[in-house]
Amino acid sequence: MRQILLTIDRLIESISNIPKVYKMSDETETLEVSPSNGKPVKPLDDHTSAKSDDGEDAFSNSKPKNEEHASVVAAHYNHLEEKGLKERFNSPIFYLRNFNNWVKSVLIQDYTDKIREKDYGKPLRVLDICCGKGGDLSKWQKARVERVVFADIAQVSVQQCETRYEDLRRRCGHLFSAEFIAADCTKDTLRDKYADPSINFDIVSCQFGLHYSFESLSQARRMLTNISECLKPDGYFFGTIPDAYEIVSRAQKSENFSFGNRIYNIKLLFDPKDGYPLFGAKYDFHLEGVVDCPEFLFNFDLFVKLAAQYGLELVYKARFSDFYKDHSEKYKQLLNRIICFESYPAPPGKELIGEASEYEHAQIIWDQMEKKNERDCLGTMSMCEWEVATVYMAFAFKKQKHIWDSKGKPSYITSADKNQTTRDSSS
Ligand SMILES: C[S@@+](CC[C@H](N)C(=O)[O-])C[C@H]1O[C@@H](n2cnc3c(N)ncnc32)[C@H](O)[C@@H]1O
Repeated sequence: MRQILLTIDRLIESISNIPKVYKMSDETETLEVSPSNGKPVKPLDDHTSAKSDDGEDAFSNSKPKNEEHASVVAAHYNHLEEKGLKERFNSPIFYLRNFNNWVKSVLIQDYTDKIREKDYGKPLRVLDICCGKGGDLSKWQKARVERVVFADIAQVSVQQCETRYEDLRRRCGHLFSAEFIAADCTKDTLRDKYADPSINFDIVSCQFGLHYSFESLSQARRMLTNISECLKPDGYFFGTIPDAYEIVSRAQKSENFSFGNRIYNIKLLFDPKDGYPLFGAKYDFHLEGVVDCPEFLFNFDLFVKLAAQYGLELVYKARFSDFYKDHSEKYKQLLNRIICFESYPAPPGKELIGEASEYEHAQIIWDQMEKKNERDCLGTMSMCEWEVATVYMAFAFKKQKHIWDSKGKPSYITSADKNQTTRDSSS
């Protein structure tokens, strides 16, 4: 079967036209963010919670119940069954999973390459935070890194990650060294748990997990400390998260702030009429066979401001549809190798993964094609799977160099500072 054309551009057009009706905070420039109830809030400082002028916790709906939430999340991921190869092939989200893996592979490849451009042959050390069962083990192997620290709140997942690592090592003989940590990365200090607390990472990767830290400001800060504390200057922090703007845009067009299709469902667990809390804005997320637990809207603009306080400067951000546009040419072979797209029409003796109506975009192109031969087909994704893929976005931050200020605190040198210095010295 010969795939002659990818129809993803048409899917991108149809889904990414959803207007962005929602802006979570216009004032993140100063970090004097107004919560939805309109009460004034003090600028966020180094403390772990922000109080409004009348003394109330500004993010009151994010107050602890969070012990409870952490155990719900851990229990959910701990009980997720490991799927065999056959089950994975028959999964209703087969292509979506592969596409997500493509995005993660590209991020890992791109940023390890960037570091090696500067220092070829350098042994790379990685923190894979919210690692789950180790879905990225073979990606780290392909990236030829030297050491990976895997951390996740779900103890059973961490054990499964270790077992998978040992299996992989037995099969391939030589593999990076690794350590495995079960910890709540939004509450615990990871550095205290490393075999070598003086370790420095070249890369920190957080795939599909960062939004769990947006339960409260203190948890977002702890997560950022864990991410940034041991990351070297010029090292990268990258990952993938659900795009809160996209979720809210879709919710506003839905009934009861609940939307989805045959493979996923999202329901906001707060009334958006009262506004959107910056932290603790909970929603239920169900994705067929993979996720079924509450999560938190991730305010990206706010995160960028917070991250700057930890020396992390945003260098890339794209919704998955744009990520695909940015990288599909360079990583075309990988798209094919990990089978990100379904053949349309279905090959003889096979069925499409979705209903016929989910392939209208492909059918239009197929009908317009002249001179088709028997072996021809299109490469596409069902509308239902693409709708889920476009909930997500990818991002990357670079760790800034720092100098020590008079109080012994790090003062980070941003690219704006560097440009200023260059301008000053050239004038
Ligand atoms: C969707 S899974 C992604 C797993 C893995 N990164 C991947 O891409 O396959 C999200 C992971 O985040 C982990 N997680 C959620 N809250 C966490 C927390 N507070 N600390 C550490 N890990 C957490 C979950 O246990 C789960 O393994």
